[in-house]
Amino acid sequence: MKKLKTIILAAGYGKRMKSKLPKVLHKVSGVSMIQHVVDLAKEIGSDQVICVVGHGRELVEEDLKGQSVEFVVQAQQLGTGHAVKMADAYLDDGEILVLFGDAPLMSHASLQAFISHHRDGGYHASLISTLFEDPTGYGRIIRDEKGQFEKIVEHKDATDQERLVKEINSGIGLFDAKLLRNALNALKNDNQQGEYYLTDVFEVIKNQGGNISAYVTPDHYEVMGVNDRLALAEAELYHQNRIKRYWMLEGVTMIMPESIYIEKNVKIGQDTLLQPGTRLRGKTVIGEDCEIGPDADIADTHIANGVSIKYSVVTKSVIDDKATIGPFAYLRPKSNIGKSVKIGDFVEVKNSTIEEGSKVSHLTYVGDGHVGKNVNLGCGVVFVNYDGKNKHLTVVEDNAFVGCNTNLIAPVKVGKDAYIAAGSTITEDVPEGALAIARERQVNKTDWSNKYQKDK
Ligand code: UD1
Ligand code: CA
Repeated sequence: MKKLKTIILAAGYGKRMKSKLPKVLHKVSGVSMIQHVVDLAKEIGSDQVICVVGHGRELVEEDLKGQSVEFVVQAQQLGTGHAVKMADAYLDDGEILVLFGDAPLMSHASLQAFISHHRDGGYHASLISTLFEDPTGYGRIIRDEKGQFEKIVEHKDATDQERLVKEINSGIGLFDAKLLRNALNALKNDNQQGEYYLTDVFEVIKNQGGNISAYVTPDHYEVMGVNDRLALAEAELYHQNRIKRYWMLEGVTMIMPESIYIEKNVKIGQDTLLQPGTRLRGKTVIGEDCEIGPDADIADTHIANGVSIKYSVVTKSVIDDKATIGPFAYLRPKSNIGKSVKIGDFVEVKNSTIEEGSKVSHLTYVGDGHVGKNVNLGCGVVFVNYDGKNKHLTVVEDNAFVGCNTNLIAPVKVGKDAYIAAGSTITEDVPEGALAIARERQVNKTDWSNKYQKDK
């Protein structure tokens, strides 16, 4: 089989975005547009992925770090044809697939169908086209009376008659490498934008006797190029619907899915229920039979089975089976929540492990702590972890019972089965099985109120 090399164009400035960020780094479903395109190139089995970078290239290269993508620099953005030419070293043999870094919605299935069409038909060059109700801004596919491909005209160069054409060029093309190389050398920039257009390559190859196919793909949304923020929002909506459809068909229930947001790399188990207002981000993985939401914002977190999370924010944490979180809990990075643990309302946890069966029901801060099994942290317990300079560890061992409104001044350890009286400020370790009381003794002054009123 011939080698398949994919060249992704991502050097352009993206003027219409009006952004400090290079256009291809704007995100759709939590992932940069260029990353979507790189993923697609890999999924369809490219032997090599080459990315043409220019404007903001350091940022683009950083975004794709460590992904076996080769970079080619286009110092001056003289057009899409010129951009492909920068990758000339790769045009010696095989097939060349060109993708645009600002078109993140193409599906694996549609692209695969296109590639098969090209190969089965023995074409020298093919492109994906589609029909747009409003084709403004796109290159138009011009066909002859027989419906055969003739050429592509860019919107800016098109006559009024040509602008009526609704079949547009997606920018995705597949070429025989050597023919592409020759055609690129023949390009001229005598057009409205003074650019070397990749789109002219098809006409050149045709005039040299090559067979060209413009393959009309049915889902016109997949072809969308994102040039401004309106298109970015439209792309986001479309991509979100694709992700949610996928997970629903995999057995995830969503109540009011239009209010739910799920990023590209999230994974969700069967029979999990997502309530309205759920946001699942980053590399979050959720097991089976969970109930998430309403209103949960969860990022980069690993959640096992049967977990419930309501009205809460969770970041970079791990939650084991059957734990219940919220309402109104805040799990900050490195919270490690054990099996059947209960984290209730207005509880904040950070960089702490809480082992199986423990309860932290309300108004508590657990920071830099290790809490054993079946511990009860009463209402308003504070792990006093910070002395203004350093963070210190608090350990609470299995079965300990920490009364309400206790301050645990770290570093400190509460032994197994120990009790702490409510309102204590604990500065020294509590031995296993002990009761610690660390508060002022109460004084009752009898009949005080009457005297006070008379004196007044
Ligand atoms: C391009 C096509 C148009 C098609 C549309 C589909 C050309 C001449 N026009 O127009 O037919 O309908 O896409 O979305 O190809 N880029 C570079 N270097 C450059 C110029 C562009 O790397 O010198 C990159 C951009 O970063 C972008 C892609 O190529 O990722 C497309 O460029 P853009 O300027 O957006 O082309 P369109 O005007 O949208
Ligand atoms: Ca574009």
